[in-house]
Amino acid sequence: MSIAVTPIIAIDRKARRPLHQQIYDAYRDSIVSGTLRPGQRVPSTRGLAAELGVSRMPVLGAYAQLMAEGYFQSRVGAGTTVSLSLPDQNLAPQPYKFRAKTARSARRRQVAERSFFPDSISTPPWRRGWGAFGVGQVALEEFPLRPWNSLVTRHSRLIGPKSLDYGHPMGLKDLREALMVYLRTARGVRCDAEQIMIVSGSQQALDIAARVLLESGSQVWMEEPGYRYARRVFALNGCRVVPIPVDGEGLKVGVGVKRCREARAVLVTPSHQYPLGVTMSASRRLQLLDWAERSGAWILEDDYDSDYRYEGMPISSLQGLDPNARVIYIGTFSKVLFPSLRLGYLVIPGDLVERFISVRLAMDIGPASFWQAVLADFIQEGHFSRHIRRMRLLYRERSHALVNGIEKELGSAVEVTGEQAGMHLCVTVSGISDREIVNRAARANLWLVPLSSSYMGRAARQGFILGFGSTATSEMTSAVRKLRNVLNLERVGGRASEQTRL
Ligand SMILES: Cc1ncc(COP(=O)(O)O)c(C=O)c1O
Repeated sequence: MSIAVTPIIAIDRKARRPLHQQIYDAYRDSIVSGTLRPGQRVPSTRGLAAELGVSRMPVLGAYAQLMAEGYFQSRVGAGTTVSLSLPDQNLAPQPYKFRAKTARSARRRQVAERSFFPDSISTPPWRRGWGAFGVGQVALEEFPLRPWNSLVTRHSRLIGPKSLDYGHPMGLKDLREALMVYLRTARGVRCDAEQIMIVSGSQQALDIAARVLLESGSQVWMEEPGYRYARRVFALNGCRVVPIPVDGEGLKVGVGVKRCREARAVLVTPSHQYPLGVTMSASRRLQLLDWAERSGAWILEDDYDSDYRYEGMPISSLQGLDPNARVIYIGTFSKVLFPSLRLGYLVIPGDLVERFISVRLAMDIGPASFWQAVLADFIQEGHFSRHIRRMRLLYRERSHALVNGIEKELGSAVEVTGEQAGMHLCVTVSGISDREIVNRAARANLWLVPLSSSYMGRAARQGFILGFGSTATSEMTSAVRKLRNVLNLERVGGRASEQTRL
């Protein structure tokens, strides 16, 4: 029989922690750290109390707790021992230490292969700052905080026991109804409130749609260049992404059909292609809808920034053109309001609503109620449409200032696309390495994104995505001038020379 072992128990009578807790902690720590092994005998309660110079009560309390939690066991003839059913190994949990190699080494420790994204371990330099040309950056200082905050205050006061229960998995009815009116009128979306599911942004919308519509191994067309965060959702769902090139009319449907006719779905940004900014032509839209209907494929329409259009009529959604309910429409409040809100929505074909609900229930049950209620009132009281009208003017001014600056400072050295909508445009430049330039630009406080980072394969074009949402009109020219210096372009008679000296 092993001898009874007492771990080091430093009793502190002045401590706030009661004596029974101190004894319990000392045993538990010794067992978890492997100092005491399974089967090892512990002293009798009387013996330990005498050893520690305390009454028997706290020892009895600690032993009872250790017994109840399975650290101790009691056997006739053997007295009390450390439980034999504990794994005979070092039980100590190692403190988590971040190592740059964690993601890679985790691969050897049997985690899902699909959870490894080589390009996401560290933030790229062009995502590290706020300011000129930051892509996806909204004019936050222009957000109408006063009405928003007063709605937040009003709703905080309204919180009662009823507000604390689960909400509907599709989201708050008031918000869905307000959105239905907006989507029908402003975006030409054909929908009822029952088809709208509130989610935590486009990323979750895509994830739910992928889980409902795709199998592991399904092939999905994506625009090339395209939105790389979306690629990850498909990868996480075990799908194979097939890059399909984009030209001035949007995704080249003919190439898609040749490359992978049997794809199960396609993700497109028809109103303002990300990142090139082109609008999908009517003939491509019809071609895409036709292919989807013939081959039984799904179209995921990411309409992330089309609330802002600066020339001509607003472009109607692809969903509104589709007579066959093949389009799943995805919208977000990240651009039109602000990204920390984490609210977006899906418009689901009527016959698929139940499926989407079942998947949603398996994921996060439903969206948090509070912000939905605030947003529903924000829309219903007219603040939303007022904000869009104001921002459309502001962003148009910023977009024009940027295009003028580019014409003046960079001239024919670059080609501009996508300036007619959204909050970014794209410039393509030949004969450069965009990543190199972007790193240099970041040191000059310019936060452009290299176009090549949006390609899955070899980049067919080099250039930059330039956000104008967070750059004041008055700063635009000097920011473009800085960019010209970074590009090392010479200004010749008001026009930049086409020769890049890199
Ligand atoms: C193409 C595209 N879709 C969607 C989003 C918005 O994503 P989320 O709603 O998850 O914030 C962005 C944001 O930059 C985007 O560029």
